[in-house]
Parts: sequence; structure tokens; C-alpha cells
Amino acid sequence: MKEYILAIDQGTTSTRAILFDQHGHLCHMQQREFKQYFPHPGWVEHDAKEIWNSVVEVVQALFTIDNIQSSQIKAIGITNQRETTVVWDKTTGEPVYHAIVWQSRQSQDICDELIEKGYSPMIQEKTGLIINPYFSASKIKWILDHIDYEHKDQLLFGTIDTWLIWKLTGGKVHATDYTNASRTMLYNIHDLKWDDDLLALFDIPRSMLPEVKESSCIYGYSDETQMSGLHFRAPICGVAGDQQASLFGHTCFQSGDIKNTYGTGCFILMNTGHMPVTSNNGLLTTIAWGLHGEITYALEGSVFIGGSVMQWLRDGLHLIQNVGETEAMAQSLKNNEGVYLIPAFVGLGTPYWENDVRGTIFGLTRGTSRNHIVRAALESIAFQSCDVIEVMKQEAHISLKSLSVDGGATSNAFLMQFQSDMLHIDILQPQVKETTALGAAYLAGLAIDFYKSQDDIKKNHQFAQVYHPVMNQQEALQYYKQWQKAIAATCVFK
Ligand code: G3P
Repeated sequence: MKEYILAIDQGTTSTRAILFDQHGHLCHMQQREFKQYFPHPGWVEHDAKEIWNSVVEVVQALFTIDNIQSSQIKAIGITNQRETTVVWDKTTGEPVYHAIVWQSRQSQDICDELIEKGYSPMIQEKTGLIINPYFSASKIKWILDHIDYEHKDQLLFGTIDTWLIWKLTGGKVHATDYTNASRTMLYNIHDLKWDDDLLALFDIPRSMLPEVKESSCIYGYSDETQMSGLHFRAPICGVAGDQQASLFGHTCFQSGDIKNTYGTGCFILMNTGHMPVTSNNGLLTTIAWGLHGEITYALEGSVFIGGSVMQWLRDGLHLIQNVGETEAMAQSLKNNEGVYLIPAFVGLGTPYWENDVRGTIFGLTRGTSRNHIVRAALESIAFQSCDVIEVMKQEAHISLKSLSVDGGATSNAFLMQFQSDMLHIDILQPQVKETTALGAAYLAGLAIDFYKSQDDIKKNHQFAQVYHPVMNQQEALQYYKQWQKAIAATCVFK
């Protein structure tokens, strides 16, 4: 019978269980959405127990719907929405508050106070991160400050990987991996230790924190205590936050390899090798993975509004009926005819960091049509990605050969070709679109020799499509210069 690695991809809006075979082929997949809670404007929460139930459901569905035998599963890899924070009691197993999601802003005041007191350089130096409620530390503090709980000494903290490992092992293992630890703002990415100064600053007891391990090693076994609700035994041996797992799934193993996930926003990560690169332009320094006793670092930047600009065209402006139409609409024009759209709906991120600017459209004429607006919206996704990637190139002193891509918007051939033209490099679209889950499967498979080596994995890696730059470089430069002018003008209007 065929053997598989089970990848559990626990994302922000849904949970997936995917089976990969020895060639890295995606063979079976089950997916469930779960509830989002918005208790106040700007707050986003999940119920950690509902997340766990969604994991049990998708794995059970592989057995009942896809007729998989549990003995076919050789190992489990976990990849997860990062930063999202769970605090639970280790004796009862009950979370003491909802999971606070990475997007949630309820700990903004805690962060503002630290920024005001001048802690930004120290925190960036130790963690590679910029003080922001996005990361776990202020969320943990917020929970501890807001719960009225008798047994605070019994509490454990975990990002979603840790919570799932704890549940899978029936409460036996409390652990995380380097990538997830590096997103907490409590972990020193140079010393590879939970940092005492940061723990004191956020007033978080060390006893709450999980053990930090390599991304590919045995964490424990599912159903170790017959309590997990997943009645089969397999090693849990691959763990990584979703953006890092995607970098690994793209086989971005060399320094300078880079990937962009085009989702609601865009997450861009560049492998910078074994030396962390510190950014002066708001990029994050993060751990890409820890493997065979070595740490690989990455630079990370994100675009706030990526694919969601297309949803705005559909649901806000009613300019299109479905996102699928946009490729042909954009291609119907020879060029953008000077129309630029800056989707700064929530301000501008890397490298501008302008919170108060808002979206704009430039270059409208009497001849501007729906097609122009649609094309400008698609181009804005590519331009914003360029803005981040250009800074990465400069700060890491690396020139790029290609960009690996995944996410929904990569099915838009116009966008991919335009991205290739603007960056003047090849765009690589892999055969397996679920690169995040694939990365987790690779990490798990490497730990048990299911996959022999990173070289072997690389050999198996296949592309569905490669886009080569076709636009004259001078013309591309002109496009990009106009974009930058439009950005500058946008920043003036607050
Ligand atoms: O840092 C947040 C990121 O990990 C969320 O990813 O794919 O669940 O939206 P996703």
C-alpha cells in the first residue's frame, strides 16, 4: 500500500490535511473552514478548541472519504498561521481565553508604550522584529492582564503549532520550532534562547514557554496517551510557521532564493543564509528553519493589500463579477495608458511605513475604462511586491535569479508576466500549488528518511509554468518610475 506524509496546514481561515507521497506529489486533501470571532473593532479571535476539532475532522475525513488506512501515514508535519497566541491550563487542558489571531490589534497600547519608552532598537536587535501587536509577546501579556485566573502558575503558552503538538500527544509534549519561536518577540534569534530581558519586559513567566526544537526532528507521537482523538500513532517530525514552510516547499534552499505568496496580502521571504541580515527599512529578520544543527535566516516583508484589491473591485465597486475575468480585461490593453492605482486602504507597509495615507488613482482621462482600473489594480500587486523585493536586494546585497510564487493570484497570467517584466527575472510557478503543506511534509519526511536529502527534494521539484521577462527593460523602468511618483504623491495627501 502507498505510503504518505500527512501535512496539517492550520491557516487563518481554514485547516487542511494533505497527503504527499515519496515524490512530493499531492495525493489527497481535505479542508474545513472554522469560525472567526470579532468581539471589538480591530480584534480577531479564534476558539482554540474549534481549531483542534477542525484538525480532527480533516484527518478523519482522509480515512472516511479518501479511504486511507492509518498505517499508510508514516509521519506528520505541522505548519500554521504564525504568531496567533493560545494560553491554556496544563492540568485541565482548557484554554483560558480565545486564541488571539495575528491580525488582532487589542494589544496595541502595550506596544505603543514600549515604543514610547524607546525599546524598539533593543527588541529589533534581539528578535529581528519591529514592535507591533502582530507578534505574540504583547498578546500573551494582554491575556495575562485580562484574565481573572486562580492558577496562573499552571498556564502554558503556545502558537498554533505548539497547541496542536500538545493536543496530538495528549498533553505530553510542549514544544515549538525555531521559526515559530522567532515570531513571538520573546526569542533571541542570535543566541537561540528565550530572552530573559524580554520576558521581564513583558512580565511573562518562563515556565509558560515551550521547548524550542529544530524544524525537522521527532517532537513526539500522535495518540501517545490515547487521548488525542486521532487514533493512530505516527511521529510528529516536521514543524514550521506557514510562510517559512512555503519557502522550504519552494525548495528555496540557497541564499538569495526568494518566494512570494499572493494571498489577501503578499508574504515575501528571502533566504539570506546562515547570517541574519538586519534591516533599516522595516523588513523583518526571521528564522527560515533550523536543520541539521544549522540555522538558516530570512528577510521578510509583506504587502497589506494584494489579492484583496480584486475583491474590492468585485464587492466594493462592482466593477467585475468574478476575479477570473480580470486577466483578459488587463490583457485587452496594450499598456496601462498612465493609470496607476495605489491600494493604500490601510496605509502603506514596507518600505514606506505610512499609516495615515489612503488609496488613490492617478492618470484618469475621459477614455479611462473598467479595463484600465482592473489593469492598474493588478499592476499594483506586482509594483508593491517590487517595492519590498528591491529593498531586500539592497539590504542583503544579493541579486536575484528568479522568484518562486504561490497563492490564488498566481493563476492570473497577466499578473505573473507583469511581475516578471517589472523584476526582470523568471517567475517560477511550481507543480504543487500547496507549497506550505509541502514544506511541512518535506521537513517531516527528511526526519524519517522518507525524503533522503534536500538535494533529492530539489531534483523532484517541478514547475507548472515559468514566466520569462519579455518587456524591454527601459520600458519596464519607466513603468516603475511612474509608480514611485504615484506613491510619492499619495504620501503627500494625508
Ligand atoms: O504571519 C501570519 C501568517 O502566518 C498567516 O498566514 O496563510 O494563515 O493567512 P495565512
